[in-house]
Amino acid sequence: MKFYIATDHAGFHYKNEVKEYLASKGVEVVDLGPETAERVDYPDYARKCAEAVRADEGSFGILICGTGIGISIAANKVEGIRAALCHDAYTAAMSRAHNNAQILCFGERVVGMGVVQSMIDAFIQTPFEGGRHAGRVEKIGAIDMARCSFSADIG
Ligand code: RB5
Repeated sequence: MKFYIATDHAGFHYKNEVKEYLASKGVEVVDLGPETAERVDYPDYARKCAEAVRADEGSFGILICGTGIGISIAANKVEGIRAALCHDAYTAAMSRAHNNAQILCFGERVVGMGVVQSMIDAFIQTPFEGGRHAGRVEKIGAIDMARCSFSADIG
């Protein structure tokens, strides 16, 4: 299992601990930055991580900002990406089971490291259920397709 990880400055302080936790689970981790806690813009790092996950089939991502909101909104703009803003082990598990999310997002100002670890465990251990959920996830993909053809139409 391979994870790409990125944050903004408000999620930066959790990055090393999250990387260590993933490594302790035998997960390969690729750090996409930033390298310091200097102020950065979360869309830049959301895009880096989402594009890396899209290009590397079967990989996953973790994105952290202050609330998890901005970085998840930005990641979901990348075609084919389902980035889930989670707050606990339940939402993290459901993001995999029902939504087949590839990227787990959360806020450093919102959840403590204990909760973060439980979310990571749930995200890693929960497979996509498929079945009735598969058609719904396909419909999310259809929104991407409609958006692309709309952009092409308006040139
Ligand atoms: C940065 O101050 C903060 O706005 C950002 O980390 C995030 O919470 C945005 O959604």
